[in-house]
Amino acid sequence: MRRVRSIAQVRRAVAGWRARGLTVGLVPTMGALHEGHLSLMRRSKRQCDRTVVSIFVNPTQFAANEDLSAYPRPLSADLQACQREDVDLVFTPTVDVIYPAGFEMTVRVGALGELWEGKSRPGHFDGVATVVLKLFTIVAPDMAIFGQKDYQQSVIIRRMVVDLNLPVRIVVAPTVRESDGLALSSRNVYLDGLSREAAIGINQALIWAKSAIRTGVSRPGQLKGKMKRMIEKGGCFSLDYIGFCDPSTLLPLTFARPPLAILIAAKCLTPGPALNRRYIDNVIIN
Ligand code: PAF
Repeated sequence: MRRVRSIAQVRRAVAGWRARGLTVGLVPTMGALHEGHLSLMRRSKRQCDRTVVSIFVNPTQFAANEDLSAYPRPLSADLQACQREDVDLVFTPTVDVIYPAGFEMTVRVGALGELWEGKSRPGHFDGVATVVLKLFTIVAPDMAIFGQKDYQQSVIIRRMVVDLNLPVRIVVAPTVRESDGLALSSRNVYLDGLSREAAIGINQALIWAKSAIRTGVSRPGQLKGKMKRMIEKGGCFSLDYIGFCDPSTLLPLTFARPPLAILIAAKCLTPGPALNRRYIDNVIIN
């Protein structure tokens, strides 16, 4: 495994592989790697000849009320994890490499970026789309792999690839969970005993809603009350939203009938770091 910091080094490595006819997979991350990220790397390694992992805490996707400086940056543990996964290249640029002096142009996502997460995190998805587009032009991968946990992000990236004619295949890999169902997230380290226990309510609410929908319940209003109680039980979480939406447009549905995506965001209320401790999860019902 090689670690590189400059765009030129990435391009040279990728050009060498391309000259030999090898395919390239990209796993973009912000570090603080966990099993979820590792599953994306394994997927890339299964499907591509070479795998590039980027580790970059992207400042432009943090909203004004979110603490960028508190975001975890365990770089040496992350590099060891990449080494263990035997990825080929790890790209760890500094902010000035990605955003050179005078940087001005960005991707504007539009309406898709203003729904759900976008309401609480203004500008977040513009920042995500901008950095992902940059990574695509730097690495020029055949395939890029994202996790389903950030479902809205994956829908936006797919949209960007279509709208901007980007020659990359997007793969969305299943959410990796703890044995009790909690979705893995870099933010889980901030859950203390009580809130860790309460956090499983988020996934349980999704499982319950999915089975209620399967038995014919179709009014979001009939589902939301119980889901909210499951999430807020114990007083550790406050529900931000439950969205019953079209899996590709993310527009809200009047009836919770498949195909649909159920999106949840809840905020952790127990004392912790200044970091914006939102927890998101989702289920797609086809
Ligand atoms: O999902 C993430 O970790 C980030 O949003 C991403 C895609 C790496 C862009 O910074």
